[in-house]
Amino acid sequence: MQTAVFARNPALRGYWYAVAQSSDVAPGPLAVTVLGEPLVLWRMADGALMAARDRCPHREAPLSCGQMVDCGLQCPYHGWTFGASGACVRIPSAPPERAIPPTARLTTIHATECYGLAWVSLDPPVADIPTMGYDGDTRFRRITTPVEVWQVSATRMADNFMDIAHLPYVHTGTIGRAQDACDPPLTLEPLDDIFYGYRYSIEANNPEAARLTSGSQAPVVARWMTTGFVLPFAIRSTIRFATGLEHILLLLSTPIDDVTSYFTFVVWCNDDFSVPADEVVAFDRRIGLEDKTMLENIPGVLPLDVAATASVQADRPSLAWRRQFAALLQGKALGQAPH
Ligand code: FES
Ligand SMILES: [Fe+2]
Repeated sequence: MQTAVFARNPALRGYWYAVAQSSDVAPGPLAVTVLGEPLVLWRMADGALMAARDRCPHREAPLSCGQMVDCGLQCPYHGWTFGASGACVRIPSAPPERAIPPTARLTTIHATECYGLAWVSLDPPVADIPTMGYDGDTRFRRITTPVEVWQVSATRMADNFMDIAHLPYVHTGTIGRAQDACDPPLTLEPLDDIFYGYRYSIEANNPEAARLTSGSQAPVVARWMTTGFVLPFAIRSTIRFATGLEHILLLLSTPIDDVTSYFTFVVWCNDDFSVPADEVVAFDRRIGLEDKTMLENIPGVLPLDVAATASVQADRPSLAWRRQFAALLQGKALGQAPH
């Protein structure tokens, strides 16, 4: 049995977490769990996204097992129905002239939509969803991908997504070149006002399936890249190819609990928009599956004390994330302040 070590930490409750594609909540209800807390998502008749604790105030039935009706979200147990503010608007077993008790109200949660995803924040948000400048750039299109459940701690996912030394080993079926060591530069810096990380270039295999992304027919291509993070679990990788194509990934991990997580990624790319979106991200999804397969073999939470695991210089990017994440849990958010 894994001891809870971070998912219940109050310091994490005021951040936005991606939990579903917007299209998954149509109109709901949809059950999700964030930081150990069961939630229900749904849409009101005007399309507004709503979220609440997945517990009816009457006898604690899960609202996610209910249904949408004209005036709101109806509980499956006794049919109480909750409107836009979370207040109960209908109790079928009570005469209509009887006042609805003020305690008949859902505990609503902050919910919003961004980049084609539904996001929630359990407490009043203390930070914005990371800004992706590419989103307003007409040269780029945005592609969302399904939200998956990984049997992996979000701590191990963030550590992995900041790391490139695993490429020649984990990604041999896609971009990894087993003959090349990946040795990242040692300089970590603010990549912009949002993300903190490093700039580097690699030689990557460019099999048939990767050629939509690279725009090149060459068997091996250079990728000029940056990889950076925003606490707690957002990682951005930017890739530029010699062809002028750019491929930007926002990798999002959301703790369901300490050892289980949602994973999704959003892509921005400046191709000619002619290829179906699913085909553009198919290769990225294969790369993601290689990471998932590796990480699901590693039990438990990544130790947050950096001294608890051996590290080398190539681990500096992931150690930077780990130190800042540990500081956040201790109530000492460092922002972009480095190491
Ligand atoms: S438990 Fe929801 S209406 Fe009774
Ligand atoms: Fe990877």
